[in-house]
Amino acid sequence: MCPECETNGHLFARHRIDLARPHAASRIAERLRSEGLVTFDGVRSRTQALALADQIMTVSPHRDSDSDGLTTIRDTRHHAGRAGFAGFGNGALQPHTERSGIPCPPRLMMLVCERAAITGGESVCVDGRAVLADLAAVAHETVIALAQPRSAYFGAGDGHPCQVITVHADNRVELRLRQDDLARFSPIVQPHLPRLRAAISRRQMALRLAPGEGYVLDNWRWLHARNAFTGDRVCWRVLGAPSFALAEGFTPAPTTASVPISVRP
Ligand SMILES: [Fe+2]
Repeated sequence: MCPECETNGHLFARHRIDLARPHAASRIAERLRSEGLVTFDGVRSRTQALALADQIMTVSPHRDSDSDGLTTIRDTRHHAGRAGFAGFGNGALQPHTERSGIPCPPRLMMLVCERAAITGGESVCVDGRAVLADLAAVAHETVIALAQPRSAYFGAGDGHPCQVITVHADNRVELRLRQDDLARFSPIVQPHLPRLRAAISRRQMALRLAPGEGYVLDNWRWLHARNAFTGDRVCWRVLGAPSFALAEGFTPAPTTASVPISVRP
């Protein structure tokens, strides 16, 4: 087994919830609270994907979603070069959080593989909690810069001024990030971006999804990305608000909690 596949198998197995066992939705909720990521398999149709989503979230329709609220992610060959539509091509996507350019991004994102790519197309997942701990250990000043209010602007003309790291009054943290043409960073943040990208790349893990396999993540904690691919890769994506209690943001690792980062007003 190649090292990449070993990583893939490890990540998938470590976070897997067996949907056939009783109380799967409760176990998904519990795991999203603690780890922020759940993997699963056996979802063979978009009806099953929506049924699973309905158990854990209130689905939010999206600009690109179909009438049932589910978005079909594939290379349409009609979106090449359009900012904000890279997901509908076959190129690599840099780690990001979903819908970073709106005031309140969806808390949950679910992705299910309908058809795998011929080559490439792996999902890439990055635990923002690990990235934050990594950065806090090697570059406190980078964490502080990334937490400066309104030090980033994500989206087009109707985008949103924000910051990569937001710390709530109870010290729980949320992340938002994009790295494409619709991301702007203040001069305070610019010099720190290489360190952020290095920490992300140290913590990213590939997930090679087979048909029927998928994941659901806390979009305020985990970043996701995609490797470039060939073939007619098709995935279904659902965005939504959790239908179970989920506190704002996530608790940083103990080593990170003492970092004096700014609090959102
Ligand atoms: Fe995305």
